[in-house]
Amino acid sequence: MTQFSKRWSDPALVATCDVMDRLFQPMTAADGIAFSIGSPAVEALPVDALREISQDVFRRDGRGIEALAYGTKMGIRDLREIIASELLAPKGVHTSADNILITAGGLETMKLLCDIFLDPGDVILVESPTFVHCVMIFQIFNAVCIPCQMDNDGLIMEDVEAKIQKYHPKMIYTVPTFQNPTGVTLSQDRRQKLAELAAKYDVIVIEDDPYRDIRFQGKDLLPIKTFDEAGKVVLANSFSKIFSPGSRLGYVVAPDDIMDKIAYAKVATNSHSSKISEVLAAEFFKRGYFPDHLKRICAIYRERCAAMMEALDAYFPEGTKHTYPDGGLFTWAELPGDIDTTELLKETMDKLHISFVAGRGFYVEGGDAGKNCMRISFGAVPPDKIYTGIKRLGDYIKTKL
Ligand SMILES: Cc1ncc(COP(=O)(O)O)c(C=O)c1O
Repeated sequence: MTQFSKRWSDPALVATCDVMDRLFQPMTAADGIAFSIGSPAVEALPVDALREISQDVFRRDGRGIEALAYGTKMGIRDLREIIASELLAPKGVHTSADNILITAGGLETMKLLCDIFLDPGDVILVESPTFVHCVMIFQIFNAVCIPCQMDNDGLIMEDVEAKIQKYHPKMIYTVPTFQNPTGVTLSQDRRQKLAELAAKYDVIVIEDDPYRDIRFQGKDLLPIKTFDEAGKVVLANSFSKIFSPGSRLGYVVAPDDIMDKIAYAKVATNSHSSKISEVLAAEFFKRGYFPDHLKRICAIYRERCAAMMEALDAYFPEGTKHTYPDGGLFTWAELPGDIDTTELLKETMDKLHISFVAGRGFYVEGGDAGKNCMRISFGAVPPDKIYTGIKRLGDYIKTKL
């Protein structure tokens, strides 16, 4: 029999792999409506700009040779400088290109961080509910995930502090802005408090913030990183939602001592990220496409979110609670009665050709947590389909009550 590593037979990891298989099934029906996917809208992908940029890049006097050759572990310098000046400084994070490393997306960042910080059995505090893909990565490193309570302002700091004292975690993992899966945002005072707790108890906070630029209403908040006086907060971000998920680009911002280790872990993984993607992304920003692009995609998501809120209020059964996000791609609904959304999903995929993600998979505590909840994505579905799909889904749910 093929012998795999012990890490891969950890029951918690096996259970999470099972959740991923069951909950993130692709929608294959031609008339299907997928409220399950976390992808950006196809209309939000900058195809025309990239056609022009790639033609220029691959002209004889362009950046083609640079794009196709090996590069350095940190990623190309002009992209890192653009990240510092255009994406971080306006949000209050003042850092140099030397403290930014380009990764092959947010998930690779998590793997690099696990690599440098975790020993088997180490504890990570996570949100309840949390982003299940990252849980999978944490479990590959045999970390123990302990859930912390949230409300409409994100993680509850009293619970976080109590769990730090009880479990002595190595890391705290949070998606502070328009969280995946709930759409909830961590309030400003809690962001500051979390940085203070990290300093007080010497814990690393991973601030995973891929949705922060997709704000279509409400006041922008400072990243947790801006309150990080002790060098304990590592900021992870991604180009997937604001540029292109297929480019597989993300970045990590960390203080010198942590960055040194991340850079070695990166070399040992894949030397560096895709130079082709890096050059195309750098040119996209340098040619000034980003501000208008961001305005355009935020307008798309604003319209879709408004349609989703209206449709849920109109068509879901009385007693349904859902979040009202100010940005991002998701809302989270809690159904009345005794509905098990894992069972419901099988039926709606089968009978209605409509998918969402059942709540259970986002809770590391297991059991019945999230049983009657669902993550509903509005990002990739046009408004007319949101109204039709949510009406059909709502009518079906009502027959179960
Ligand atoms: C919270 C969160 N972190 C990380 C990722 C992964 O991003 P990437 O596509 O950059 O790997 C996602 C993608 O859905 C996400 O929602």
